[in-house]
Amino acid sequence: MKGKHIVVGVTAGIAAYKAVELVSRLYKAGAEVKVVMTRNATKFVSPLVFGEISKHKVAVEMFENVQDWNVEHIAYATWADAYVIAPATANMIAKMAYGIADDMLSTQLLATTAPVFVCPAMNSNMYAHPTVQENLSILRGRGVHVLEPDSGLLACGVEGKGRLPDPQKIMDWVDFHLGKTELLQGKTVIVSAGGTQEAIDPVRYITNRSSGKMGYAVALKAAQAGAKTILVSAPTDLAVPIGVERIIVCSATEMKEAIDSHYDSADAVIMAAAVADYRVAEVANNKIKKQETMILELVKNPDILASLGERKQQQKLIGFAAETQDVIAYGKEKVRKKNLDMLVANDVSKSNAGFDVDTNEVTFIYPGDQIVSLPNMSKLDVAERIIQALADL
Ligand code: CTP
Repeated sequence: MKGKHIVVGVTAGIAAYKAVELVSRLYKAGAEVKVVMTRNATKFVSPLVFGEISKHKVAVEMFENVQDWNVEHIAYATWADAYVIAPATANMIAKMAYGIADDMLSTQLLATTAPVFVCPAMNSNMYAHPTVQENLSILRGRGVHVLEPDSGLLACGVEGKGRLPDPQKIMDWVDFHLGKTELLQGKTVIVSAGGTQEAIDPVRYITNRSSGKMGYAVALKAAQAGAKTILVSAPTDLAVPIGVERIIVCSATEMKEAIDSHYDSADAVIMAAAVADYRVAEVANNKIKKQETMILELVKNPDILASLGERKQQQKLIGFAAETQDVIAYGKEKVRKKNLDMLVANDVSKSNAGFDVDTNEVTFIYPGDQIVSLPNMSKLDVAERIIQALADL
């Protein structure tokens, strides 16, 4: 979002108050934001609020004295890198579908060539009305991005579909589409993530400290690069990344099955998961009662990546290695042993890298011992570099 020019259009829905948070987040993320409100929207939230937060005067009226020599609606329309209409009422959606330009916002929407993102929010019956749905499909057909409203308790007191999604969700969605590339267009990429859970009995399991954040960031960036992206994930609290198909698994055995079933048609596998090396030899059917000491017998899990390496055809294989010492030496060994095209190695003993933090410091290791070390950066930036490296491969 940094440096992006975003026009946020606010129309007259009760969810207009959530647009305040959206503008604030966009501003904090480094975007330059200008707000345009319909006259009725100003009855819900004062333009003063948006003005203070965006640090720009809010446009409402079409025929005010212009501030400079530019025709104002055209000036906005050409300045914008994107228009985000949140909330978008049924009325504004209809105006957009039929080219009605009777106020500042609808006129700008006709005058801009920037991508337009519409976030409908209204009563669930209104949203389900065939007119609204037809108008939305007209807009989709013209390449307008439409974000489905959330379901839940609406301001009108009924449960249903029509809530404006969380400002962060709106922002992530806009960011995803503005950053889209065709680097991996037409390719299928499998990404694994999270720490597998190996059952002990019906209520207990063994796992590790992986949060899944790195794998989820890689899946998001693969989808943003145009790949059909299948995320095979151990259980986490993380939301499904935009544009990604997610399969939840628990154990290493389940993860292997899920990956194997998609492997033949895949162009790449990125194994960011922390696969448990062992599982319990015999999982108890009932909860094990407390004892003075307890000995669990563990047996070795299959090495998923090594088995993919053994039967690889067109697929590019990228592994991860979390180490606490001799990162490069162990990494080189894993590239050879698992027949990889690239390994992302990181030292998890560093406080700003590895498990459960948002940053990572990694080294790419290639066959032939070629090495590329990256500085500490966000996991999203690391993910972007991995996807770029995969496209190069
Ligand atoms: N991996 C896998 N199946 C396993 C263990 C690991 O597919 N049973 C994958 C991981 O997802 C990762 C890579 O292999 O991409 C390296 O994992 P890592 O745990 O660093 O290496 P191991 O091979 O398990 O070796 P060690 O634990 O001895 O370092």
